Amino acid sequence: MDIRKDVSLKPYNTFGIDAKASYFVAVSSVAELKSVLEQKGYPQKFILGGGSNMLLTKDIDALVIHVDIKGIEIIEVSEDKCLIKSNAGENWHEFVLFCIENNLGGLENLSLIPGNVGTAPIQNIGAYGIELKDTFKSCDAVSIKTGALRTFNKDECDFEYRDSIFKSKLKGAYIITSVVFELSKTNHQLKTGYGAIATELEKKNISAPSIKDISNAVIAIRQSKLPDPKKIGNSGSFFKNPIVNIKQFERLKLSFDDVPSFPISQDKVKVPAGWLIEKAGFKGKTFGNYGVHKHQALVLVNYGGATGEEILNLSKLIQLSVSRLFDIDIEAEVNII
Ligand code: EPU
Repeated sequence: MDIRKDVSLKPYNTFGIDAKASYFVAVSSVAELKSVLEQKGYPQKFILGGGSNMLLTKDIDALVIHVDIKGIEIIEVSEDKCLIKSNAGENWHEFVLFCIENNLGGLENLSLIPGNVGTAPIQNIGAYGIELKDTFKSCDAVSIKTGALRTFNKDECDFEYRDSIFKSKLKGAYIITSVVFELSKTNHQLKTGYGAIATELEKKNISAPSIKDISNAVIAIRQSKLPDPKKIGNSGSFFKNPIVNIKQFERLKLSFDDVPSFPISQDKVKVPAGWLIEKAGFKGKTFGNYGVHKHQALVLVNYGGATGEEILNLSKLIQLSVSRLFDIDIEAEVNII
């Protein structure tokens, strides 16, 4: 194993923040991961997956372990379903494309989400009416404390909107090494209900879409709204969409009759944070070399050379402005390190 000292994490986080790790190692197998965990003499251990959902605000005085375990395997096939396993270090979008090429349905709406397979369950990634939990079967994870490998089934993961047990009760306790999905082989259950997908398909005159058509529509929508992290540093949605009670929402509607909302239950609705931030005047605003994306106010961007602290301060300013204007608290979705 190759443990390096003083390594820049810039290539390992999609925000492109130039923070340093005092020690860094990439692991390419579960065995290697276990043996790194046994290493003594480091300040602490810090796990890094695709680095697509974090904002580094300081150097990390730890042994940073980059999980780079590759491999995709079909593990069980029945007449209409397929269990497919991907190791944690596979790039999420490439895995989605692999499934689509093999005519396996269920992940097409999650095309082009940055990050790796192993970190996708942590925040139960979601987009265009689908969440990871809808096709998730189980995952294997190694305990950081004991090195023991444990399988978590879906119920044990406590999946919620952008949340799971790995972000709450077991935060920092396990490293996911592989994930199994249950996908459809026939009779794909297509989800085209999310407005933008239907419009995109109509534009192309597609009335009976395949999973590939849905994936292409999602890719086109994302490319038109969300910045490509390879070109402009970002972490996707910086904030979660807040869930507010219906009374508060009715009050909000009196002042802002165009406020969009999505029902959650009888007495709760989700309000798009992007809309709140736009109304607060931040959409497209730049502050030197960082700012708020011009097509989607939920996304904070690093045009190059910004520090994590600068972006964190901007996020606090946005939270304060939204709270003052609407009396709604918006919470960061990315992990602030
Ligand atoms: N909106 C605005 N201004 C903006 C952005 C959005 O008014 O600057 C309004 C839109 O007009 C629309 C509503 O907000 O009425 C929802 O917008 P959009 O469809 O873009 O979705 P979102 O709620 O802003 C969520 C996810 C995204 C995901 C999309 C599509 C969260 C925190 N974000 O965004 O996820 O791609 O839905 O399903 O739930 C991510 O997590 O990194 C991410 C990009």
